[in-house]
Amino acid sequence: MKSYKIAVLPGDGTGPEVVAEGMKALAALADRVGFSYESADFDFGGDRYLRTGETLPDSAVDELRQFDAIYLGAIGHPDVKPGILEKGILLRLRFELDQYINLRPVKLYPNVPTPIKDKGPEEIDFVVVRENTEGIYTGAGGFFKKGTPDEIAVQESINTRKGVERCLRYAFDYTRRRNKDRTLTLCGKTNVLTYAFDLWERAFHEVGEADYGDIRRDYAHVDAICMWMVKNPEWFDVIVTDNIFGDIITDLGAMIQGGMGIAAGGNINPEGVSMFEPIGGSAPKYTGRNVINPMAAIGACQLMVDTLGEHEGAAILEAAIVSTLQQLKGMGAGEMGYSTSEVGDLVAGAVTAASP
Ligand code: IPM
Ligand code: MN
Repeated sequence: MKSYKIAVLPGDGTGPEVVAEGMKALAALADRVGFSYESADFDFGGDRYLRTGETLPDSAVDELRQFDAIYLGAIGHPDVKPGILEKGILLRLRFELDQYINLRPVKLYPNVPTPIKDKGPEEIDFVVVRENTEGIYTGAGGFFKKGTPDEIAVQESINTRKGVERCLRYAFDYTRRRNKDRTLTLCGKTNVLTYAFDLWERAFHEVGEADYGDIRRDYAHVDAICMWMVKNPEWFDVIVTDNIFGDIITDLGAMIQGGMGIAAGGNINPEGVSMFEPIGGSAPKYTGRNVINPMAAIGACQLMVDTLGEHEGAAILEAAIVSTLQQLKGMGAGEMGYSTSEVGDLVAGAVTAASP
């Protein structure tokens, strides 16, 4: 029997509540499909930081490297200045574990409301491959004459040929595996960012031409992509883009697929340890009330299972998510018609009941 080591970082706010439901689904799935796992909890987050002044101990990253996957709830605490936990925990793990892909499916499931009129599950089903370790996220830049009238702030976008190319290759391979329209769209801004996206565009066509002749290549500026994600989401199969554009367009994507209660993502190192998370925040005001929607966290668990190679298990869990969604009255906190843990029970029950 296959066995996996899962590091669980429940994190802040409602993170622990939603992660508990994902773990419930995982337990049901392991029984149903026949794999085993060990999990270990880590308490990194705002409370620990306020108690100890430490975001991630130096030993933590090496410890986390020993796991097959990391399952993260949410990072963000109302009493901690914005940036400290995000940089100290989330971004540090992405960088140090070299999780160079942020994979964010934008898929509208049946019975999930979308704000887009006349569009349904047929039209909203694409995947964003976001570069996850470069761009403006590296922290390159600085201040000059800070606090004076002559102050200058520079924030640079770092794009390495190697970093861009490995992201593009992942996206091409993913498009091929997904086998939907076999179209990969590069999302950039070649009309203004004439260095960064020049490199991206050249690498895109070189790599595509040389090794992915079966994949259609398409290019659009990020602003046009925002427009089309709303107007014609059915145009997209897989979108590949840099870190910041990917950050922004996937929040738009989350909204058209039913909101933060459902959107999940994976921080992937195809050669190393990957980390899976619901893409919404810690929603502190709902903490401990058993009202938050755990579906995004359960979706993150599904991505984790799939990435671990348990494809049959991932398909069973997705079917359980779909059947549970049919029963919910709404997606927002307190709107589901069920509590957080009841939604988890429904999913776990559907997994257990899935026919072989
Ligand atoms: C996300 C988040 C993070 C990001 C923040 C919390 C640093 O918005 O995962 O999309 O910008 O990547
Ligand atoms: Mn974001």
